[in-house]
Amino acid sequence: MAAVDEISPDVYRVNVMTDPDLDFTTSFFLIRDEAPTLVETGFRRAFDETYRAVSELIDPATLRYLVVPHFEGDESGALNGFLSRAPHSVAVCSPIGMAVNADLADRDPMVVDGDSELDLGAHRLRFLITPYVHTWESMLPYDPTTGTVFCSDVFIGPDGGHAITEADQTDHMIQMYKSVGIFPSRAHLDHALDKIEAVHPRTLACHHGSVKAGRIGTYLQALREHDVTGVTEWNPMLEPTDRPR
Ligand SMILES: [Fe+2]
Ligand SMILES: [Fe+2]
Repeated sequence: MAAVDEISPDVYRVNVMTDPDLDFTTSFFLIRDEAPTLVETGFRRAFDETYRAVSELIDPATLRYLVVPHFEGDESGALNGFLSRAPHSVAVCSPIGMAVNADLADRDPMVVDGDSELDLGAHRLRFLITPYVHTWESMLPYDPTTGTVFCSDVFIGPDGGHAITEADQTDHMIQMYKSVGIFPSRAHLDHALDKIEAVHPRTLACHHGSVKAGRIGTYLQALREHDVTGVTEWNPMLEPTDRPR
């Protein structure tokens, strides 16, 4: 069963276990407002479970915006499931997302850029366009009303059963990035970190691991100081394995 936690007023984290051996989980976020909104949708294979979780908070048929930071299984796999259950909903993606991946959505997405703002009611969403962090089309939505950056695969870490943490998990974060190698270049990552820092986030709602509610500067500094870009020396995801995936 998906775990649901309120991380700020009327913003809910819907979390499912991805890999118990690694304490690796995947989350998406529901903003319960006049225009109910999902930031990410989670995996298609988890849709039945996560749809039930969303149904306990809102009528999913009323969903308006389904924001896709980038098209990928854990970010948008259940997109068409939610689109089919919410007739007035629309996927929201970056201009590059529209150019290269709009075909993955059963209805035409809405495009947003760095000047866009969605008025959800009490909340608003703006967008940081962050190419190659970690895909070409990547963008990071943020809510200026709560100081929350929905930072997708940036600032990933362990979950440990905690929806929110103020602990310093930067060592684990750096170790994970050094092994999986999802950031192609220092320049792209710095460009994204500059944009994140400029909006002065109070909460980092990352979708792997606990939401960070403190030490924001420490997390930013860790990604600036450590070499987590380029080709990694050893990536366990590229090694032969007998483990089922
Ligand atoms: Fe991703
Ligand atoms: Fe991810």
